[in-house]
Formats: sequence, structure tokens, C-alpha cells
Amino acid sequence: MERKRIIIAIDGFSSTGKSTMAKALARHIGYAYIDTGAMYRAVTLYCLENGLVNADGTIDETQLIGRLGEIKITFGVNAETGQSETYLDGRCVEREIRDMRVSAVVSQVAKIPAVRRALVAQQQAMGQEKGIVMDGRDIGTVVFPEAEMKVYVTASAETRARRRYDELVAKGDATVTYEEVLHNVTERDRIDTTRTESPLRKADDAYTLDNSHMTIDEQNRWLYDLYCKISGE
Ligand code: DC
Repeated sequence: MERKRIIIAIDGFSSTGKSTMAKALARHIGYAYIDTGAMYRAVTLYCLENGLVNADGTIDETQLIGRLGEIKITFGVNAETGQSETYLDGRCVEREIRDMRVSAVVSQVAKIPAVRRALVAQQQAMGQEKGIVMDGRDIGTVVFPEAEMKVYVTASAETRARRRYDELVAKGDATVTYEEVLHNVTERDRIDTTRTESPLRKADDAYTLDNSHMTIDEQNRWLYDLYCKISGE
């Protein structure tokens, strides 16, 4: 059956595993995958490396806004792993942007309206040809309100903190405790859902997926079935 090319928007809280699902679906159906959280993280890394983070964790907004035009974020595919990786000004920063250092201040950067406007414009340009899976917080509500398929992923804060903690330990980053990760997760939830600019919320026409008790295979199957239903109409 000839399927129509569509835009797939996947939104939800941090550490719900939505990137893993989104990536797997994109690979399976031959679509491009864009991790918009990585874009906010790359701008945050830029701030950390250029002295734009104040001692109290707030951002020097005036400086950042003046430099937004010169921050270049791109994606490339790692030839060995086949995975998409994030580049900041031509340098691969995939590992650095996942650090707790970045996680601790990224919500501050993501709530700045000028930053959102700049990144949303880039995201909309990437979706012009459709055939894209994009994950984030505001994809179904702001970036592509007309997306044919919208999914809102959720899981309990404890489940998400446990997954994130296990991931950090697996990477050898054992300097943090589970409690610290849980605190970071709930604090980011609070900032992401209460900020004035594009807060995280479910689009009215999004399908909700609570994956607290699902395996990765079950989630992938659920997502693929939904895609088949929507794109085959
Ligand atoms: O998905 P993530 O944890 O990598 O996202 C990092 C931060 O960026 C998170 O605090 C929410 C924010 N974000 C956002 O505000 N809008 C998006 N479209 C994606 C991420």
C-alpha cells in the first residue's frame, strides 16, 4: 500500500524514552528524526562554554540573544553506529549535551522566548518536506499544530528518574545519586509545564501513551500500529 508522507510529533516529559521510540520508528519507516531537546541542550552548552550562565544558574539573556544568530546547530549520522548526533558550530557535542551540567540549566535556556523563536523556525524548516519524526515538548502544539500524527508520552516521575539514573550509571557517570536525578526530573517538569512561553501540554488531538509499565518493544509496536492507521487512510 502506498502510504502518504506525514509529520509525526512526539511530545512529553523528560526521560519518558520518547527519543528511543521516535528514533526506532523513524529508522523503521525511513523518515528523518529530529531531537529538538538536543537543540535546546546545544544552546545551553554554548552558554556554559561562553560564560553566559550566571553563578545562580540564570542566563545572561542579553548576551545570548545578541549571539543567537551565530550559534550553528546541525545533525549528522555517525558512520559506525548509524545514530544521529548533534553538532555545535561543526563540533560533535552528542556526549557533552547529555551531562548533568547541561541538564541542570537547560530549562532556563528553553524558557527564553527569543531562543524558542529561533529554534522553532529551524524546526519548521526541517519539516517542510514532511516524512519527519520530531520529538520535544511543543511539537504538536506550536511547531507543527497541523501534524497528521501527534503522540503525548508520559510516565511517573519515579519511573523516569530510575531510567535516567540507570542510563547515567551505565555511562560511568556514577557521581550522581538517584535522589539528585529525581529532583532534577521533577524540577524540570515543573519549569517545563509552568513556563509562560510554550509550556509542555498535550495537544487536544494527540494520542496519549503512558509507558510506565511497557517494554520498549511494546511501545515501538504501539507507535508503529498508530502510524500505519494514520498514514494508510
Ligand atoms: O528532551 P530533553 O530532556 O533532552 O529536553 C531538554 C530540555 O529542553 C527540557 O528541559 C525541555 C526543553 N525542551 C523544550 O522546551 N522544547 C522542546 N521542543 C524540546 C525540549
